[in-house]
This record gives sequence, C-alpha cells and structure tokens, in this order.
Amino acid sequence: MGLVKKFYITKFKEERPKIELKNISLSFNKRQILDNISLTIREGEICGLLGPNGVGKSTIFNIIIGLLNPDYGEVFINKKKVTNLPIYKRALDFGVSIVPQSGGIFSDLTCYQNLNAIADLVIKEKKDRNFKVEKMIAKFELDAVKNIKAKHLSGGQKKRVSIAMALLSNPKIVLMDEPFQGLDLMSTNYLQETIVNLQTEDINRCCVISDHAARDLLKISDRAVVLANKKIIAQGTPKDLINNEQAKSFYFGETFNIN
Ligand SMILES: Nc1ncnc2c1ncn2[C@@H]1O[C@H](COP(=O)(O)OP(=O)(O)OP(=O)(O)O)[C@@H](O)[C@H]1O
Ligand SMILES: [Mg+2]
Repeated sequence: MGLVKKFYITKFKEERPKIELKNISLSFNKRQILDNISLTIREGEICGLLGPNGVGKSTIFNIIIGLLNPDYGEVFINKKKVTNLPIYKRALDFGVSIVPQSGGIFSDLTCYQNLNAIADLVIKEKKDRNFKVEKMIAKFELDAVKNIKAKHLSGGQKKRVSIAMALLSNPKIVLMDEPFQGLDLMSTNYLQETIVNLQTEDINRCCVISDHAARDLLKISDRAVVLANKKIIAQGTPKDLINNEQAKSFYFGETFNIN
C-alpha cells in the first residue's frame, strides 16, 4: 500500500489544531450518545474515525459541520470558536465540506445537474464552474452516466457523485462519512489515491474519514480514533491502534490486521 501513501505523519513539528472538540456531550431524547469527548484533528493529517454502529461517528460529523449543537462543550476551527456558527458560515469561512453517510444528492436531478447546483453555490467565478464540473465528472469516471437522474445511479456511482460534489469547493476540511461504502475494488483504490492527493496538494488541509472498511481506511490514515460506549477509548497511529487492547476488544477483534 506504500504505492498509494508514500509517507505517514507520525509527529508534528508544531501542533497546529484544525478542528478541536472540547468536552462535547450530547443526548437524543435523554439517551446519551457522546460523553465528554475531546478530540483534536491537526492541520495536514488524515484521521480515521472508527467505532461500532451507533456509537456516534456521524453525530460527531454533524457537530463539526454545525448541523447539530452539542448539549455541552465547544467546537473550534482554526482555534476560533464556531459552536454557534451556522453550517453555511463554517463552509464558507473555514472551507468545511462533507460527504454524508447517505443522501446529499438530489434524486431527480442528473449527475451533471447535481454537480452544477453545488458549483453555482461554491465556485465564485461563473466562468470556472463548467470547467470544474467537467473535471470532476472525468476524475470520478462519471462521463457515461452524467445525464442520468441520480435516483437511477448505482450505489457506488451515487457515492462517487457525492464525493465529487464535496470536493468541488476545494475544501480545507474534508469530512467523509463512509465514503468507501458500495465502491468496487478499483474505485476504492482510486478514492484512497484521491484522498492522499488531497493531503499532498495542500499541506494545511485535513481529512477526517469514518468507514467500516477499516483496513482500506487505516492504510491511508496518519492517525485514527476509536469510539466506544460514548467515549474515545483509543487513538494513535494505525499500527499502535490495532495492537491496543481496548481497541481490539471494542472494535477490531483479535485477528484484524492491516497487511
Ligand atoms: N436525530 C436523532 N434522534 C434520535 N437519535 C438519534 C438521532 N441521530 C442519531 N441518533 C442516535 O444516535 C446514535 C449515534 O448515531 P450515529 O449515526 O452517529 O452512529 P454512527 O457511529 O455513525 O453509526 P454507523 O456506523 O451505523 O453509521 C444512534 O444510536 C442513533 O440511533
Ligand atoms: Mg454513521
């Protein structure tokens, strides 16, 4: 896999936090989901977010983008408090972009129209829009289906459209919630390369990715975090993490490896 990712960030010269969650707690209808979570994502890193179904990974993404407000705790981006900033401000002022776990595309619009609709919002220069949309269509091999309505695309094609939509704005903070879900083997490999390229193209960009394709994700992650029972139970480099007893017992099991 060295072929895809040529270097791993194991240490930072200086700590430059991009996203900070400080003492976040959240309940839905009195059922607590997150209990006093503190997490720092650093500039430049690819961070994997792992944990069993229902542990709160998508909830954390929603808190970062501003779709959900925590009951307690604060969210910082670039060291600025954003806890009360609306979604669009976080997107425009801080370059936050998300590939949601599901949805996020208009079913009755074609693939091309979906991308165009987002381009109208996020690309300032009108003359650049069409070029960038076409570039994404080519990059994610959507040419053959670009005039097909999203509701008629396959699962993996839909995922590729939603990844292309998220990357149109040249985001600084890329959040991906299960981006590998439904992708075929070559598309998985291509997405890994795309994510690693996002890192190398812009050293200040960070990517936070959640996926149960843990092996595919850990191969490109500099660091990963495991959640269980409302808390972060382990974090570290992929190698450290898969040998961590807590992470093994709550998520990986005894036989998991990344080779
Ligand atoms: N709007 C909501 N109202 C009530 N409960 C919710 C709401 N959103 C999420 N939950 C609950 O919060 C918990 C965490 O959900 P979340 O979607 O964050 O899990 P996840 O870690 O992303 O799981 P998965 O791996 O299955 O995607 C779940 O038990 C879910 O039922
Ligand atoms: Mg989820």
